[in-house]
Amino acid sequence: MEFKTYLKEYQDLINKELNKYVKTNECPEKTLNNSMEYSLMAGGKRLRPILVLATYEMLTDKSKEIVMPYAVAIEMVHNFSLIHDDLPGIDNDDFRHGKPTNHKQFNESTAILAGDGLLNNAYIVISEDLRRTELELLPIKLRVFEEFSKAVDRMIAGEYVDTEFEGKEISNEYLEYIHINKTGALLKLCVRMGAILANASKKDIERLTIYAEKIGLAFQIKDDILSEEGTEEEMGKPVGNDKEKGKCTYVSKYGLEESKVILDKITKEAVEIVKEYGEKGEFLKELALYIENRNK
Ligand code: IPE
Ligand code: IPE
Ligand code: MG
Ligand code: MG
Repeated sequence: MEFKTYLKEYQDLINKELNKYVKTNECPEKTLNNSMEYSLMAGGKRLRPILVLATYEMLTDKSKEIVMPYAVAIEMVHNFSLIHDDLPGIDNDDFRHGKPTNHKQFNESTAILAGDGLLNNAYIVISEDLRRTELELLPIKLRVFEEFSKAVDRMIAGEYVDTEFEGKEISNEYLEYIHINKTGALLKLCVRMGAILANASKKDIERLTIYAEKIGLAFQIKDDILSEEGTEEEMGKPVGNDKEKGKCTYVSKYGLEESKVILDKITKEAVEIVKEYGEKGEFLKELALYIENRNK
């Protein structure tokens, strides 16, 4: 099967799974629930849950049921981060996924609470899974739970530093710090969750962590490049706004051409790592190339 077909299958599977958590009941907070659904089901690429599932499936033949709650939970956290990232107090953006951002479609207070709701719903999904887990698997799940919480903490820290240094000159170290935390932390977590839940060896977990760090950085560099030369139509979100706001990005620091060279170098390194897994590593290899070559 072609990579694009696999990718679509994963996306459909995740969308179906996420749909199970959409609340449609009549209640006083119905609009809040609608706003959570609005963002969660808006058509994201589902890269994070795909990373969880694909890493897991590369390493084990066991059922995907074990990882699914974690794949769902991370996508909820991701969408919480996007809703808050778009708020006037952070990036003040009006479009996401080709539609008005949450606070534009609803209002600011609803968007803040929708973000809070998605973050907390992620923890509800995990805690329900933990309660159902047999004793034997519990230590592994608790390890994943701890990593999950800490990665979310890092993402928030990265968002803070990104916001704090808007319009200011920063060192290479700080730029790295923003990328590693804001974007890298969740992507790394996804690969590690897939590997840990597949009961991978320490060596595999370490090796795949390096792969994840590389694609995490590559992903944000590409995001910075697309903010400069992507089209709003394809991206479904504003372009050119990083520059406008004086955001510290790879492009602002190294320029467009040098950023592309760096992106290509780390992508190649990531690809080399998963080549170790032969045929089974093919999807993660293609995923790294997809991150480098994507237009949205
Ligand atoms: C966008 O992430 C925010 C960043 C971390 C750069 P994605 O590109 O993965 O968001 P989706 O695909 O719209 O969900
Ligand atoms: C968003 O980063 C990252 C998180 C929400 C953690 P950006 O602000 O760079 O991404 P876009 O361009 O809004 O998607
Ligand atoms: Mg931002
Ligand atoms: Mg933003």
